[in-house]
Amino acid sequence: MAQSVEINGKRLEESLRIMGRIGFVSDEQGISRLALGEAAREARELFVSWLEEENLEVRIDPIGNIFGIRPGRRDGDPVIAGSHLDTVHEGGAFDGALGVLAGLEVIRSLNEGKIETEHPVAVAAFTNEEGVRFQPDMMGSMVMAGKLPLEEALAARDDDGRTVGEELERIGFRGSDSVTPKAYLELHIEQGPVLEDEEKEIGIVEGIQGIAWWRCHFRGKAGHAGTTPIPLRRDALLGAADLCCRIRELAVELGENTVATMGRLAPEPDMVNVIPSRARCTVDMRQYDPELYEEGQKEVRQLVEEIANTHGLEAELEQMADARPVRFPPEVVEMVERHAQERGYSALRLPSGAGHDAQFMHYLCPTAMIFVPSIGGVSHTPVERTSYTDTARGCQVLCDSIVELARGA
Ligand code: GLV
Ligand code: MN
Ligand code: MN
Repeated sequence: MAQSVEINGKRLEESLRIMGRIGFVSDEQGISRLALGEAAREARELFVSWLEEENLEVRIDPIGNIFGIRPGRRDGDPVIAGSHLDTVHEGGAFDGALGVLAGLEVIRSLNEGKIETEHPVAVAAFTNEEGVRFQPDMMGSMVMAGKLPLEEALAARDDDGRTVGEELERIGFRGSDSVTPKAYLELHIEQGPVLEDEEKEIGIVEGIQGIAWWRCHFRGKAGHAGTTPIPLRRDALLGAADLCCRIRELAVELGENTVATMGRLAPEPDMVNVIPSRARCTVDMRQYDPELYEEGQKEVRQLVEEIANTHGLEAELEQMADARPVRFPPEVVEMVERHAQERGYSALRLPSGAGHDAQFMHYLCPTAMIFVPSIGGVSHTPVERTSYTDTARGCQVLCDSIVELARGA
């Protein structure tokens, strides 16, 4: 029987509270720590200072991923626990931060107990997981996994034209180190209602659904809102509005819990009495089944073409993200499940509806995820909450799993 390591749930709670003050605006507006902005810089600096307090070797790679490595008895690749410190605009304190700070809590507990592991153990904070400011999402882990060329990632621009490379330079996080993972585990809030509804304490994540993102740009013709007869109009906003409704129908038709969302929509010239000549919008489509995911992508492309024809518009569709569905290795999933059971926690297997860095770390090493319940099933909003009893449980399962993976053999 391996030595058991007890994490400190109170200390994890305190870390979450301290990190949660960075980028906090108000109870109504929540936390905004957009990737590579000022608040994200502050969060990164705090995290690095905590890594240094634990005497970890800090490494920063060329896309700004941060690692804190604790040596093992042997040299070699570390078992990594991680997630991200960036948030969406007006987000909460748990999405991402929990996985990073739980990884840190595991290491603090190992240090406190002077516990040696065979393999090194590390905690990671990946760059731009959310993809709100720069696309694609999961950028840091995607670059690390070799699924996105570094140069392409560094050249990604935000709405104001600033690049990832410039912003990494500006905040002092463009490194040159590298890390190869032996295994990767990520603790995260569920961000949906299933665990709460089923009254389960731990989610055993079997895989992550595919996520496709597009930018769509409809072009028509501007005209006077009072004088242009309906049949003569080429209204770009009408194209985008039609697409908004039709992707929902498409999701329902495809079935199997397909979801599709138009999250951004900007008509131009954006005036009350002018027919919009341009409309820019985004589409987010997700599906867990690999074949249906491909089918959904094909149908979105066809739909845009069809809508452009119907309304006499030109349409451009640019894919921003294509994170294929993944399934985690059964033996790692089973190990996590066994640790939840051994701790006496009720557990449920489920897929993840949200994207996570594990989706890309999975290409590099044995990977799995642990979920804890989201109160009210909500996330990406200021009211995102998880009880600290649940964060401690999740962290304990993470710790037991990390200790097993780092044990040797
Ligand atoms: C990231 O959180 C996503 O799933 O969009
Ligand atoms: Mn997240
Ligand atoms: Mn998120």
